[in-house]
Amino acid sequence: MRGKDGGYEEEPFVFPEGFAWGAATSSHQVEGDNRNSDWWRFETRGGTAHASGVACDQYRRFREDFALLGELGHNAHRLSLEWSRFEPKKGEWSEEAFQHYREVLQELHARGIKVCLTIHHFTNPAWLGAEGWERAETPALFARFAAKVAHEFDGLVDQWITINEPMVFLYMGWQMGRWPPAKKDASWFTVLRVFWHLVRAHRLAYRAIKVASRKGTPVGIAQNCQSYYAYDRHNIVAHLAVALIDFATNHAFYLFSRPATHDFLGVNYYFHHRVALRRWFRPEFIDQNEEQREKSDMGWELHPEGIFDVLLSLHSYRKPIFITECGVATDSEEIRQRFLVNVLKHVHHAIKAGVPVRGFFYWSFLDNFEWADGFAPHFGLVRMDYATGKREPRATAYLYRHIIRANAIDGPLFKYFGYRTAYDPRTDSVT
Ligand code: FCB
Repeated sequence: MRGKDGGYEEEPFVFPEGFAWGAATSSHQVEGDNRNSDWWRFETRGGTAHASGVACDQYRRFREDFALLGELGHNAHRLSLEWSRFEPKKGEWSEEAFQHYREVLQELHARGIKVCLTIHHFTNPAWLGAEGWERAETPALFARFAAKVAHEFDGLVDQWITINEPMVFLYMGWQMGRWPPAKKDASWFTVLRVFWHLVRAHRLAYRAIKVASRKGTPVGIAQNCQSYYAYDRHNIVAHLAVALIDFATNHAFYLFSRPATHDFLGVNYYFHHRVALRRWFRPEFIDQNEEQREKSDMGWELHPEGIFDVLLSLHSYRKPIFITECGVATDSEEIRQRFLVNVLKHVHHAIKAGVPVRGFFYWSFLDNFEWADGFAPHFGLVRMDYATGKREPRATAYLYRHIIRANAIDGPLFKYFGYRTAYDPRTDSVT
């Protein structure tokens, strides 16, 4: 097909019918005043430069926010529950929390927005304590919470995510030590123990949700899936290192928790690495600064094409796939738009190659509290004025709406791939 004025060489990239289009958030990052959580304690004791405070105040302003989702054309939304609000003290349940989140989910439902609900997104009730996930009883405590919410909210949820990025939670909390419980370089014994407890927590929660759900609502996790290349193409040991790192970060959790406990695969895509062996079997990531790669305000390399090989490598599980997070921290709408359109192009290529991708959630709906980095990184489709609480959709939010309405990347957007651009020597610019 050619565009109205001729010239477009490609068909529009049409997404499958019923594709879920939305954005993602997590409770602690947007709600505010999450006082009974380990993160709140961590922040108020100086663990981070900035505390989350009222964040985006979404706990109170969710109706206004969901109206905005509607205006921006989203047909699905990913959000999370806050365990510490439901169970502020061990074994004591808050009716107010059940009531609150019921209203939140009903509001989305009433607007015809599908709900992807995460049960654990990094935060824990403070009572779980620093040893929480190292203790053998924690998976069962988590599954008890999962069973309660699955029972209460059955019918209001279209897909469940038990745990967000378990490997990142483990890495940041027990290896990097930048997030609670801030145990830098914990022993391998402790790391494997926490890993195993997270695996068990997922398995138990999966079963609990299946028992509670009358319609068999699908359950999965959101996994931080990273793209890796061997820097030295002809070094077989480098390829081996890539295979091992890829297995440990992208696949181990699925395999140990058993693929049968994943009805779909949730993919959070942010990272691409070139792995080199500069010293004998000491894999290193080639520094993107050294290579002058384009990067986001988080310092993360922009590599939208990496999502293609990540998706392809998950194909063998034969499960539906949702991109449960993907986005960029930047104050430049030019970068955000280019990144979004390009990442979607590669998602579309994966779909054409037979990968059953069923939805995409941009990270994030709003600028929000980016954990140890505070409020400085701006991931939002919607800009937050933290002084006034005003929400202001960025240009990318409207570009995204255009894509959602068309359920496609259509002709005019092909300029993002370099089609129909022209260099104007008079203004020294490209149009
Ligand atoms: C992911 C997290 C999410 C957000 C983005 C930028 O790893 O799941 O909460 O912080 O990164």
